[in-house]
Amino acid sequence: MDKVANVNPEELQNEALTAAAAAETLESLDAARVQYLGRSSELKLALRDVRDRETGMALNTVRKALEEAFAARQEELERAELSQKLSTERVDVTLPAELLGRVRVRPRGSLHPTTLIRRDVEDAFIGLGYEIREDREIETVEYNFDKLAFPEWHPARSPRGTFYLDPSTVLRTETSPSQLLALEEKPPPVYMVSIGRVYRRDTIDATHFPIFHQFEGLAIDRGITLADLKGTLLHVMRELFGQDREVRFRTHYFPFTEPSMEPDVSCGVCGGSGCQTCKWSGWIEIGGSGMIDPQVLTNMGLDPEEWGGFAFGLGLERTAQLRYDIPILRPFWENDLRFLRQFR
Ligand code: DAH
Repeated sequence: MDKVANVNPEELQNEALTAAAAAETLESLDAARVQYLGRSSELKLALRDVRDRETGMALNTVRKALEEAFAARQEELERAELSQKLSTERVDVTLPAELLGRVRVRPRGSLHPTTLIRRDVEDAFIGLGYEIREDREIETVEYNFDKLAFPEWHPARSPRGTFYLDPSTVLRTETSPSQLLALEEKPPPVYMVSIGRVYRRDTIDATHFPIFHQFEGLAIDRGITLADLKGTLLHVMRELFGQDREVRFRTHYFPFTEPSMEPDVSCGVCGGSGCQTCKWSGWIEIGGSGMIDPQVLTNMGLDPEEWGGFAFGLGLERTAQLRYDIPILRPFWENDLRFLRQFR
């Protein structure tokens, strides 16, 4: 192509096309565009000065070619920039949102395992029509021991085992005094479960802690038998641990029940065939129980010929330990969030 006006269209076109192709970023492409197609570019100035048709056509052909080339290069660079962004700014949707720093996640709390079990126990008994009680933790010797027919020589009365506030006041060592308190509030029939903290002067080890929780059940009615006790415990154990559980009784001694039994629940780890958890017996001890001793009924102001009943007492932490497979007791009281957060 001949030289038109002061520009050589062919040279200009080649130079501009080379610049467009060489632009590696949108910014440098823009700069090149301004240089070759901008208002004060050589080409635009030449176009403004055009006097003849032939020159005008030649320059316009160059302009068109350049505009297309710049547009094509722009598209190329934009596509490259997008794919670069897609690969470097990729979002891992499997990451927790708070780690991405994009979402403020409100931390979700969780309930203490003791609370979770307590609620399950309450549900199991409410299903049977039982009333839920919560009684005082500071108790008199009279209600904690005397009226429950603890003999004078019983070791639980010793200040070495029990926290005495004064000679006639203790931190309750069990929830059993609730039996008496419930009957003072209303006449039988009474079906209640009392849940709360109890205190013993135990040295802390894997299975002992000076504070723990018990739930104490009591049924007083006419014609209650040991079969009712067993059926009730079976129902509750199945609600807490699963419908395949069995319950058995071993004879034992408690001052306020006669006969007294320790209930066992069949081991959920081995299904009863024997394993480390149940010390190869197939059964796990869960507490104490029995038929209310006539002396205690009398202490409640009831006629043992007319009224009878059963009672049982179990540990909440122990129940939670079995349920959640927690080998030691201490974490229940340490408030270590790494432990507590595991339970929902
Ligand atoms: N109070 C007993 C304890 O803490 C447990 C217990 C045994 C409660 C027998 C009862 C019962 O109601 O009948 O070891």
